[in-house]
Amino acid sequence: MSIYPIIMSQTKFMQRDSLSYPYEERGLQFGDGIYEVIRIYQGNYYLLEEHVDRLFRSLEAIKINLETSKEEITRLLNQLLERNDMKKDGKVYLQVSRGSAPRDHVFPEDVPPNLFAYVKELPRNLETIQNGVSTITQRDVRWENCYIKSLNLLPNVLAKQEAKEQGCYEAILHRDGLVTECSSSNVYLVKDGKIYTHTANNRILHGCVRMRVEKFAVDMKIPFLEEGFSVEDISMADELFLSSSTSEITPIIQSDNQQIGNGKPGPITRQLQEAYEKDALIRKLEV
Ligand SMILES: Cc1ncc(COP(=O)(O)O)c(C=O)c1O
Repeated sequence: MSIYPIIMSQTKFMQRDSLSYPYEERGLQFGDGIYEVIRIYQGNYYLLEEHVDRLFRSLEAIKINLETSKEEITRLLNQLLERNDMKKDGKVYLQVSRGSAPRDHVFPEDVPPNLFAYVKELPRNLETIQNGVSTITQRDVRWENCYIKSLNLLPNVLAKQEAKEQGCYEAILHRDGLVTECSSSNVYLVKDGKIYTHTANNRILHGCVRMRVEKFAVDMKIPFLEEGFSVEDISMADELFLSSSTSEITPIIQSDNQQIGNGKPGPITRQLQEAYEKDALIRKLEV
């Protein structure tokens, strides 16, 4: 799927192909920046406020001072969809780096951050959402600040590639056996009617969809326990599922070649998927 023709660069709109960056750009050379991926359904953002809030938390954490306010970013992101006449299911990728400057680890002085955003079409992955996916487990070798949506994604990239090479959709990451999250999604285990997931601390990205999953669970009076679970617990799970802006709520039916529950998406996962569709105002799954 190609990028829509109008992109946002700094606070201006321009043609996609006219954006160019110098070699000495801190996002490019150091991964010195942060990003967001925001879901769009039928031309409308889903959870935009949550994403913009997280963007600013990430910026603050790495000491990038963006002069543009939250309100202005929100206005610009909405304009980006309007200017592209975007009416479909899609996503926006937005990135902020510390800027363009001669290569030096130390922050440059008086250099404005580089900001850009573009829109792409992204149909819902109904096959995986309906039927579920397989995963592998892998050691989480990332740093201690995974709550920052940093451009440094090498461990995530390698984990996801390993999953792909093993014919799987995602890699479930663990630290000393305690499951944190997946390479690009949050992960949850269901046992005896309760949902378990890693606490939202520095070891995971606080997913915008995760926040909704918690709310749906509370609304449905399903206990949502931020106690975490271990790799060993996975084999005894009734259900397992993951969440992200692009994967929505996706059932996991197999992990490390072991069947989860009865090998089919479970009832609590289905209830949460239904709540998600209602919340995002999208059509129901045909299950
Ligand atoms: C490592 C990681 N965890 C969790 C998520 C889910 O976050 P969200 O629900 O905000 O898309 C992502 C999304 O890209 C991610 O990269």
